[in-house]
Amino acid sequence: MSGFKEPSFADRQKAAQQAKQDILNKFRAKPGPDDPEVKQRQAEREAQAAARAKVREAREAAKAEQKAREAEAAALAAAQVAREKEEETARLAAHGKTARIFNLGCGPAQEIQDFLVRYGVSDHARFTLLDFNEETIRFATSILSDLKNRHHRGTSLDFVKKSVGQVLKGRGRKAEGPGGAQYDFVYCAGLFDYLNDRICKSVLTYFYDIVAPGGLVVATNVEGQHPIRNIMEYMFEWHLVYRNSAEFASLVPERAPADSFSIQTEDSAGNIFLEIRKPLNGNGS
Ligand SMILES: C[S@@+](CC[C@H](N)C(=O)[O-])C[C@H]1O[C@@H](n2cnc3c(N)ncnc32)[C@H](O)[C@@H]1O
Repeated sequence: MSGFKEPSFADRQKAAQQAKQDILNKFRAKPGPDDPEVKQRQAEREAQAAARAKVREAREAAKAEQKAREAEAAALAAAQVAREKEEETARLAAHGKTARIFNLGCGPAQEIQDFLVRYGVSDHARFTLLDFNEETIRFATSILSDLKNRHHRGTSLDFVKKSVGQVLKGRGRKAEGPGGAQYDFVYCAGLFDYLNDRICKSVLTYFYDIVAPGGLVVATNVEGQHPIRNIMEYMFEWHLVYRNSAEFASLVPERAPADSFSIQTEDSAGNIFLEIRKPLNGNGS
């Protein structure tokens, strides 16, 4: 038989009273705000909050700096590509030809906007712009068509919504781009930083195949010695694919002769430019 005895009402009342008393005692024993221990804990909490705020501030500042650098790098890359576009178009226009230009990962196509506004020779250019982002294609279509009309340009603009993967998968035996043509100038700015070596090499090989003899291929990458690379990687786990000249050169297609390409690194924002001029006799082999 169990030895348990049901507590009486008096027992329960006593226990409840004791519990209330215990709570009161605990409350009375609680140190007041002037207690040195309480003060120390409060100070510690404040120090921790201040340290967290400092880290937040540093992170925001680094983010802002990164944004500014990216904008500067994009603007410098755009300016250089715009110059090359003008030269290539003028070269072909001088022979009464239209320059066929293919831009992979076009984004808002700032350099094409500038080209339409500033250069009359843009009448002699035909662009194929490719991007995998629907909204980007819509924006580029709208702004470039608007500029073309406002500046009365005869420039031809074709837009293709596709990914790099789709382009590489869809390439056929024929050396032609997404518009079913060869191009005089093929370029990609600001996208290689996000792609691994294998894909970049395939893209460059594809570019080299679809560029006409005598035509130019240009690609940009942010260089390995980027000043805030370590901060970005440590604080945000952003891992862009930085490349130095030698690493970039290793992506040049095997069939491009050694004297057909060059790498320029003088850009202050950390861009490096790879240029491959396809020999007039094709692969140069
Ligand atoms: C950093 S932006 C560069 C835009 C522009 N070329 C410039 O220099 O300012 C990269 C662009 O590539 C596009 N993009 C990224 N990954 C892509 C992919 N796998 N296939 C096609 N486009 C891609 C993005 O939508 C974006 O518009």
